[in-house]
Amino acid sequence: MQLTMPLDMHLHLRDEDMLHNIAKDSVHTFSGAVVMPNLVPPVTTKESLLAYKKRILDAIGDEKFTPYMTLFFKPSYDKAFLESIRDELTAIKLYPAGITTNSEGGVSGFDVEELRPTLQAMSELDIPLCIHGETNGFVMDREAEFVSIYEKLANAFPKLKIIMEHITTKQSVEALDRHENLYATITLHHLLLTLDDVAGGMLQPHLFCKPIAKRPEDRDALLKVALEAHPKVMFGSDSAPHPREAKESCGCAAGVFTAPIALQVLAELFESKNASVENLQAFVSNNAQRIYGVKPMDKTVILEKKPFKVPSDYNGVVPIYANQEIAYSVKEVIYG
Ligand code: DOR
Ligand code: ZN
Repeated sequence: MQLTMPLDMHLHLRDEDMLHNIAKDSVHTFSGAVVMPNLVPPVTTKESLLAYKKRILDAIGDEKFTPYMTLFFKPSYDKAFLESIRDELTAIKLYPAGITTNSEGGVSGFDVEELRPTLQAMSELDIPLCIHGETNGFVMDREAEFVSIYEKLANAFPKLKIIMEHITTKQSVEALDRHENLYATITLHHLLLTLDDVAGGMLQPHLFCKPIAKRPEDRDALLKVALEAHPKVMFGSDSAPHPREAKESCGCAAGVFTAPIALQVLAELFESKNASVENLQAFVSNNAQRIYGVKPMDKTVILEKKPFKVPSDYNGVVPIYANQEIAYSVKEVIYG
């Protein structure tokens, strides 16, 4: 099976030691990825964005890969600033304050007038807005409660592309078709898991993430739009590495590490559900190219149906399916 120019539209590459530990393995099978800005401190200036991009390129060495850079949303960005950074910027990521890892500096209210200066400028400059859509309500209801905020913003800024990141509910899937300017990313783990897999038996810290995996009917709604390659849906792994000690501890960090095996497992999943390779190609690349207007570098990934034993860890970071066998292996990655 052959996939061309695979894209991961939501990836955490971190910084410093962690960046060096996971970068090459996270990007090897992708032409490019939208890199999240939730560092400490978050990426909020042109200098910090360019410096972070350089650190990523240094860490990936000879891997051929484009980091699509993002800023951490602030309501105070003005148009002149955004214009000055436009060529380097792929999207701006908005986090509600405190909702997940390193999001303390996020937004605490969703008053349209307070957010208007930045959002209006983004709309005029055609900069997509990526949102982690969860309220601070009951954990299973947070995303469904946020749908009305997505819709309020979609109505207030009809020309602004709004990406509902890592959707986990049927309510978010339904919202996609109600607003022309709403799009979504879906992770691998939310296509595979329900809350039962995380906490139905012994607690599985390496499957704990935000938003938490939901009910079977939610997963089915996600699977439907991914497998049919709904034109407004893109693959975004939300691969979120944490050191083993931060996961296997009292106070488990949120995040599932999937990037090194994401394409292989997606191939197995699409095959098991009788979905076509064309749809997988659209889900992992073509839809994102069209929605974001990006032209990825040439990279073709050849997968073969040969069992692959997933490592116990990648430099101390435990992946999904650690020590287990998956059906597909990477045979070759061809550049150019
Ligand atoms: O589980 C998560 N981990 N969800 C997020 O939104 C952030 C991520 C992280 O950065 O660790
Ligand atoms: Zn994320």
